[in-house]
Amino acid sequence: MRYGYFDDKNREYVITQPDTPLPWINYLGCQAYFGIISNTAGGYSFYRDARLRRVSRYRYNNVPYDLGGRYIYLRDDESGEFWSPSWQPTRNDLEDYTCRHGLGYTIIGSRYSGIEAHSTYFVPLDEDLEIWRLTVTNRRSKPASLSVYSSIEFCLWDANDDATNFQRNFSIGEVEIEDGTIYHKTEYRERRNHFAYFACSRKTEGFDTQREAFVGPYRGWEKPLAVERGKLSNSVAHGWAPIGAHRVKLQLGPDETQEVIFLLGYHENPPEQKFDPPASQTLNKKTVKPVIAKYLNFADVDAAFEKLRQYWDGLLAVCQVETPDVHTNRMVNIWNAYQCMATFNMSRSASFYESGIGRGLGFRDSNQDLLGFVQMVPARARERILDLAATQLPSGGAYHQYQPLTKRGNNDVGSNFNDDPHWLIVGVAAYLKETGDWSILDEPVPYDNAPGSEQPLYEHLQRSFQYTLDRLGPHGLPLIGRADWNDCLNLNCFSDTPGQSFQTTTNKDGKVAESVFIAALFVLAGRELAEIARRRGRTDEAQRYLAEVARMEDTVREQGWDGEWFLRAYDDFGRKVGSKECAEGKIFIETQGFCVLAGIGLDDGRAQAAMESVAKHLATGHGIILQQPAYSRYYLELGEISSYPPGYKENAGIFCHNNPWVMIAETQVGNGDRAYDYYARINPSAREPISELHRCEPYVYAQMIAGRDAPTHGEAKNSWLTGTAAWNYYAVTQWILGIRPTFEGLEIRPVVPKGWRGFKATRLFRGVTYNIAVTREGEGNQVALKVDGEPWEGTVVPAPVEGQREVTVEVTLK
Ligand code: BGC
Ligand code: NOJ
Repeated sequence: MRYGYFDDKNREYVITQPDTPLPWINYLGCQAYFGIISNTAGGYSFYRDARLRRVSRYRYNNVPYDLGGRYIYLRDDESGEFWSPSWQPTRNDLEDYTCRHGLGYTIIGSRYSGIEAHSTYFVPLDEDLEIWRLTVTNRRSKPASLSVYSSIEFCLWDANDDATNFQRNFSIGEVEIEDGTIYHKTEYRERRNHFAYFACSRKTEGFDTQREAFVGPYRGWEKPLAVERGKLSNSVAHGWAPIGAHRVKLQLGPDETQEVIFLLGYHENPPEQKFDPPASQTLNKKTVKPVIAKYLNFADVDAAFEKLRQYWDGLLAVCQVETPDVHTNRMVNIWNAYQCMATFNMSRSASFYESGIGRGLGFRDSNQDLLGFVQMVPARARERILDLAATQLPSGGAYHQYQPLTKRGNNDVGSNFNDDPHWLIVGVAAYLKETGDWSILDEPVPYDNAPGSEQPLYEHLQRSFQYTLDRLGPHGLPLIGRADWNDCLNLNCFSDTPGQSFQTTTNKDGKVAESVFIAALFVLAGRELAEIARRRGRTDEAQRYLAEVARMEDTVREQGWDGEWFLRAYDDFGRKVGSKECAEGKIFIETQGFCVLAGIGLDDGRAQAAMESVAKHLATGHGIILQQPAYSRYYLELGEISSYPPGYKENAGIFCHNNPWVMIAETQVGNGDRAYDYYARINPSAREPISELHRCEPYVYAQMIAGRDAPTHGEAKNSWLTGTAAWNYYAVTQWILGIRPTFEGLEIRPVVPKGWRGFKATRLFRGVTYNIAVTREGEGNQVALKVDGEPWEGTVVPAPVEGQREVTVEVTLK
């Protein structure tokens, strides 16, 4: 069953039923000011950091699940009836409800009692504010007397403190009201130099800023007393819960339309210019007022919306494809790229499943996110790489996470996830291949942000590589540390205390448990580093890296192979994990995908055998399961993986992030049919017809789909913020469609299904547009290229002569 449809032309998903199985959300903003908005206008906003600069308040895991947000109420002042055009929170029986989630904007509206109302929510480019543009049309045959009520609940900035420290927080709330604009300035009197504002384009009939005055005692957002009564009380919040609410009167003749703009924004003043007059405690509004005035103007709002659309046109134009499969086209051309922007911006910090207070930006996550993002805004990828590298420790290890606002490593979570450092090499390699900007390697970057410790980025990569060589275990494989990619394989944790963090508790000294996954990652990253070294003229280093890589490959073949598939790890007792000898968890997906994509076993049959084992033991109709058999009980020596009930998350869930590793591996063994088949199984658009089972948004990937051991096999969870976005984008564009940036240039080497007669693509690469047409002539994967009409040897398209901006590439597959 579907709850809406894709409008590919407008690049929107249109939800036509408000009660979707879960809130189906979108992101507003893509630079510094961000909002999350659900299909019923739920959600919140923040500036840069969802924890430390939360602008509006949101209560997670509410009842109903999604309650609280950017709510607008309409009230018929003749009958006293009121409703929300976005369905929530009043939940009236609306006609023609639609929510259009587009790229950076959401339009929600409906018709009720002859009144049509739609709100367009978006964040203008380069601004720290959001616009709610409300359009109301009277479809009655007689005039209508309406009032519009806006509402937002302010967060007292630090979302964690806001949700816990009530003894203090109930006394600190402060606001100012001037010319109908509500300013939220809690803690501005002391160390903050930022405030929020909520403004309205019309003359207002009053305001409320104290929550209880608006909703009324013992009431909630679904039935605010002030709206019911038809009157705001001009309350000024002192302590308790500051909110913003305006009332605007609308007199509408039949078929008349009127519009109102509400602005919610964030503003900073220089610390020495906080107050006006300087000796007072009154906000200095000098620099914010022009911004407010501008965006309360309809022409400026129109222009800002148009600019946002053009911005996305430009970003998406970098890679557009026309394949025989609508789901591939839609995801590559629109939604998967869009999701890659969200994962780049948020890492895993703020979604409807990540509360914004738990995790900052992950080191491993952010580096992988680059794989799907770097082609869109290379300059931001560059900045991110340098930020990440600056949190690297002198040992070559990395803080597992850092806070985006401070850009400092997060001490609570710390380090010792032994895969982390290699992802920096993978991220930098992706950047170099896309941009050819070798200067980044010479950028001086500190370790652990310590002034004076700066070394060229290249040296950071060297230390990343060395980190593993300094930490080899009894079989010559890399020691796992707290965990590798699989955060739940905690082989040194041995936790028997409820509530202890599996990721940060270490009860073993960590000198035994080894990871075959890190070995594969080392091989992949080591090859990239060797190539980088070679191209920088450091031949000796390159040779040394390749020698280490070769040694590690041998070790994987000797110590990491189980007969029909790759082993996963050795535990603290030196026992195998992911082996046919194990009672449970005999085969894991990660090492099958990653060893092969790193090139291990391609020449000796192991790769093919591993792929057959995946197909036999792990593949289901809903995607490939993480491991089998699922762990049926808690294993002290394995950690969090065995804490999940079978079929969920890392315990035999379909952890979508690693499915594309197998897709890439299948392309490497030449099996385009299987690679594409695996792609289609988890493609959210292809799963749209089973939305009642899948439950998450059909336009973005979710982290997990319940595996076959779970009672809810096929149900997705944790949508949006997952490495799945970048990896699927990378797998389908670079390996299945085979349009692949390399150090050398743009390679074109598709491995597509036998049944495809061909496809077309345009790819903007290093300033040149490549118009690519692929035609199948035989059933294999052999590629013959013609560049601008001339046959070309090999699969890497040469860079055109200086000044040429377009290249035509004809590709024949045989
Ligand atoms: C989850 C992992 C996640 C980890 C770190 C675990 O509970 O299962 O997917 O990576 O927490 O936040
Ligand atoms: C989610 C984490 O964000 C990611 O870093 C990790 O690799 C996966 N979970 C697997 O545990």
